[in-house]
Formats: sequence, C-alpha cells, structure tokens
Amino acid sequence: MNNFTYSIPTVIHFGKGQISHLSELKESGSRVLMVYGGGSIKRNGVYNAAVKYMTEVGLTVFELPGVTPNPRIQLVRQGIDICRREDIDMVLAVGGGSSIDCAKLIAAGTLYDGDPWELMKDSSLIKAALPIYCVLTLAATGSEMDNSTVISDPTLNAKLDICSDYLKPKTAILDPEYTFTVPKNQTAAGAVDIMSHIFESYFTNVKGCAVQKHIAEALLKTVIENAPKALADPESYEARSNLMWCSSLALNGILSYGAEVAWCVHPIEHELSAFYDITHGMGLAILTPVWMRYVLNEGTSHDFAEYGRNVWNIGETDDMKAAEAAIDKTAEFFASLGMPKTLTEIGIDDRHFEEMAKKCVSFCEGCYVPLTEKDIISIYKKAL
Ligand code: NZQ
Ligand code: ZN
Repeated sequence: MNNFTYSIPTVIHFGKGQISHLSELKESGSRVLMVYGGGSIKRNGVYNAAVKYMTEVGLTVFELPGVTPNPRIQLVRQGIDICRREDIDMVLAVGGGSSIDCAKLIAAGTLYDGDPWELMKDSSLIKAALPIYCVLTLAATGSEMDNSTVISDPTLNAKLDICSDYLKPKTAILDPEYTFTVPKNQTAAGAVDIMSHIFESYFTNVKGCAVQKHIAEALLKTVIENAPKALADPESYEARSNLMWCSSLALNGILSYGAEVAWCVHPIEHELSAFYDITHGMGLAILTPVWMRYVLNEGTSHDFAEYGRNVWNIGETDDMKAAEAAIDKTAEFFASLGMPKTLTEIGIDDRHFEEMAKKCVSFCEGCYVPLTEKDIISIYKKAL
C-alpha cells in the first residue's frame, strides 16, 4: 500500500427530507447561485423544496439553469459573470454530475483572474474557490463527494477532467427519493459509471491493498444487486439509497488512497463523449468489457479471476478461465441493464479514432496496463 493523506471533508446529509439542511448555507454568506439542468428538478419538486429552505433563512437565490449533460465551458463563463456581477458568496448545484461539475468550475473560476478553460488545462492554477454545495439527484459520477470536474468545449471537440482539492463540495445532500424520477437509461448508465469508477481503482499494480480491494468488491456487489431492482421498481428506496451511497463511496478517495493508479477507460470514453456528446455511462458500458479483454494476459489474469470469484462467485480455479468468465459476466450485466454493446449501435464509426487516441494517450501512461496510441485505436476498433 502507498502512503496517503486521508482528506474527505464533504459533509453528507443522507436520507429523506435532508434538504432542510440547505438552511446551513447561511454559514457561507447570503447570496447563492443555484446551478441546475434542463428542468427535471422543476418537474419532481426538488427545485421548490430547495428554494423554500434557502429563502426561509433569508438567502438571496440567483439561478443558472440549462446545464446540459457533458456540461459546456460556455455556460461556466456565464455563471462566473453572474457570480462577479451579483457578488455571489457560494454556489449550489441541484442535479446530477453535470450540474455539480458546472458549479465546481464556476466556484473556482470566479476567484481566478483569467478564462476558466485555463484551469481545465492546468488545475494547479486553482488557488481558491467559492464554497460548493450540492443536492444530488442522480447516482452516478461521485462528483458530490470528490475533487474532480469534467467540462467540455464542443467547439474544440474537447472534454477535460481535472482534480483539485478546492473542488471538494463543502456539503452534499443525498436524498434517495430525489432519484425516483431518474429515467431507466440514466439509472443504468449511472450504475455502469459507478462500477467503472470502482474498476479504475480496483485494477491497480500497487500490491497489498486488501482493504481497498475488499471494500471495492462490496460496492460492486451492491451495485450489481441494486441496479436491476431500481430499474424494475424506480421507487424502491432500498435500491435507490444503496446506489446513491455507492456513487459517493466509489470516488471519494476511500478506494484509491494508497492504491493510486492512472485511470484509462475514462480518458478513452471521454473522447467519445467529446466528439459525439454521448451519455458517459453508456460509453463506459461499451468500452469496459473490451478494455478488460484487451489487457487480460498471464500477468493480469489473477486480478480478473479474483474479481470474478469475489464479486460474481465464479468457482473456477484456473485463473485465465475464471478471468474470462468474469469479463463475460460484466458484459452480460451491462447488456441486461439495457446498455448498448457496440459503438456501431450508437452510430459511431472509426473516422475519429486516431485523433481521439492521440488526445487521450498521455492519460493512459501509468495505468494498470499502460496503453499506447495503437492500443487505444485497437480498443476503439474492437468496440465497433
Ligand atoms: O438536466 P436535467 O433536466 O436535470 O436532466 C438530467 C439529464 O438529462 C437527468 N436527471 C438527473 N437527475 C434526474 C434526472 N431526470 C429525472 N429525475 C432526476 N432526479 O439525467 C440526465 C443526465 O444528467 P447528468 O447530470 O448529465 O448525469 P450524470 O450525473 O451521469 O453526469 C454526467 C457528467 O459527469 C461527468 C461525465 O463525464 C458527464 O459529463 N463525470 C464527472 C465526474 C466527476 N466530477 O467526478 C466523474 C465521472 O467519471 C464523469 O466523467
Ligand atoms: Zn465516470
């Protein structure tokens, strides 16, 4: 296990009715920018509840609606303008990962003397941020409790991911009931995203991380148990609450501290959503089994076999056979959630593969099995 410094400062208020804790925002000032997406929070009542609890304690609420999936730098710039013009004290995201990510860069960009895209290219330029709060409505990205933001610039076909401790939310409100209205495809994509975050830490070259490994396996089993339940019964509190807590635990550092390894499936997927604006979890569902098969060899088979034995209860004693069975199970599970299996199914062909591989290859150095541009192109091709 590597050395690490544990720092998970986000306060979590988990459960029914916890939105009343929005009254605590007054600790950070009186003027809030509320950032949200395309209207789901107005349809399911979360918007009204949020505004009620903030105005009751005298907070002045400004709004930035219209965050799209794969949030855009252009909207971040608008948010920063509002924060400066209205002397905003804090930013509140109400929504999924896209709203939270947009709010995070607004919070950092407001206190940065330059264009926020510069921060996406060099996160060390972030030296401060307005306090960040969020009300999560979709179990998926882990942005509610992590130090990352992912922002796109469609004019450049670019989607960048940065980390900075200034981006960790101060408080996150996690009410599983707010996810009852998440549509099936987003519920499924969210489950795949959570599993992918777990895989990105689980498949590591750092030895001796039994704690991280076994927590990861428990989280994977929890998603595998509960995602089908949430699809069958969208208002199952049990299923939604377990998925929601998995979303946060998958990416808050508990799995990666001490077991650090560069991520690889995520950068490869981010190029797909940068070029084609697809749902992130859907891209991961297609790429993950392909990546697993691509990196499976004599050296990695034991790790995949252990995954298969501990998560899928595969009894096979031969490592290579157990590993192959585990990868098959993973692919079958994603398909059972209704996720597409190939890029062709979602209308993606090979025309940008070389450019995409060139753009993401530097992130894949230092990953579990280091990948070259040629490897990444092969993975894209095998996913067709
Ligand atoms: O925009 P609205 O109307 O709110 O609708 C959203 C959107 O259409 C809808 N939705 C969310 N909550 C809902 C709901 N619909 C009904 N009821 C609810 N309760 O779902 C759609 C997708 O929302 P979005 O926020 O885009 O989804 P998600 O949470 O999956 O976020 C995806 C973004 O996060 C990035 C992804 O790349 C993508 O840009 N990621 C962020 C990470 C991070 N910050 O740590 C890590 C991840 O790996 C990921 O890259
Ligand atoms: Zn992800």
